[in-house]
Amino acid sequence: MTSTLLVTGGAGYIGSHTCIELLQEGHQVVVLDNLSNSSPEALHRVEAITSKAPIFIEGDIRNPALVRDILARYNPEHIIHFAGLKAVGESVKKPLDYYANNVSGTLVLCQEMAAHGLFNLVFSSSATVYGDPASLPIRENFPRSATNPYGRSKLMVERMLEDLYLSDPRWNIAILRYFNPAGAHPSGLVGEDPADIPNNLVPYISQVATGRREKLQVFGNDWSTADGTGVRDYIHVVDLARGHLCALRQLSQGCGLKAWNLGLGRGYSVLEVVSAFEKASGQTIPYQFVDRRPGDIAACWADPASSQKDLQWSAEKGIEEMMADAWRWQSTNPDGYSRLSGPERLRKLDR
Ligand code: NAD
Ligand code: UD1
Repeated sequence: MTSTLLVTGGAGYIGSHTCIELLQEGHQVVVLDNLSNSSPEALHRVEAITSKAPIFIEGDIRNPALVRDILARYNPEHIIHFAGLKAVGESVKKPLDYYANNVSGTLVLCQEMAAHGLFNLVFSSSATVYGDPASLPIRENFPRSATNPYGRSKLMVERMLEDLYLSDPRWNIAILRYFNPAGAHPSGLVGEDPADIPNNLVPYISQVATGRREKLQVFGNDWSTADGTGVRDYIHVVDLARGHLCALRQLSQGCGLKAWNLGLGRGYSVLEVVSAFEKASGQTIPYQFVDRRPGDIAACWADPASSQKDLQWSAEKGIEEMMADAWRWQSTNPDGYSRLSGPERLRKLDR
């Protein structure tokens, strides 16, 4: 069944891929995004792929009057809430920005939803809420902790949503804990477009491959893993996007509040990712070992059994496809979305 959805942060990396899947399933999509970390070009590309245009409203989720107006005007049946800030290092330097965007932003959204009588929410959480897990794979009922303001903001929102559900069982809330999103849309038209030096592994490798960065710095080769480098659960962004559509079905069936892991269920080391990327791209990725990155952990991967059972979802694309799609996006859009139109580029650079 199709519906109208509000997608906050829909111009961003995961949001734009999710818009594609939603539009392709026939949903009507309203995007609210302040473009603080994205370009409207992403939504033009979404339209090019799907031949359907999401309705785009440029604005901030922290603006209650705007959110109220959007809910009244479009009367969505669900909200998928991606909007927020996500850079761990920046969160340490600017914690208030993170609490304002991620925590206050979600608070405003939930207040306006309740006032409007809308109680169906999908929230983007992160595997970061598991901290350094005592064992692997990670199940949804593992203890949660956070070591930086970004992680704490996700944890605070999870707890706020739990309190909200306890206070009013009309809420249906799907908390989706993403592991490590990677790759791009197979068309090569939509992908990840980091505004600055990439923090995450795959976008960094992609920029080394195009010559924009000299070499990859591998953060530690003395971890307690098979080859000494960090191990993570990389998940193709299109698989991740599909997971949101499965979560919507749960909301429609009155799931209450539930948290689900979205991951492949197996880990790859940094060197395995480098090797997969080299194979997919035919490029050599120079790298050097450097000290461990503060706050990093040795290894992290999901137990996706609950998602498979409850959501009828599982990841279909492996590491080879992730790397091939990341390379297609990066090699055909070496400057991301920014090289396109003069005014848009200037606007992005101004930020
Ligand atoms: P992104 O930065 O590409 O997308 C976030 C979007 O939200 C951007 O388009 C940005 O402009 C917008 N935005 C930010 N603050 C806003 C505000 N106050 N009002 C309106 N719009 C705002 O990030 P992403 O990778 O697509 O991540 C989406 C969500 O998933 C985030 O909540 C992030 O924390 C979470 N997440 C991401 C990852 C990852 O590795 N990418 C992992 C786990 C969780
Ligand atoms: C990071 C965030 C985490 C967030 C997750 C998904 C930190 C400390 N943690 O985690 O909160 O939920 O992204 O967005 O930033 N690596 C290198 N060289 C690089 C980049 C990364 O060796 O230039 C290594 C890392 O040490 C790690 C692996 O690659 O072992 C993956 O790193 P990254 O992509 O940053 O993801 P996470 O560390 O899982």
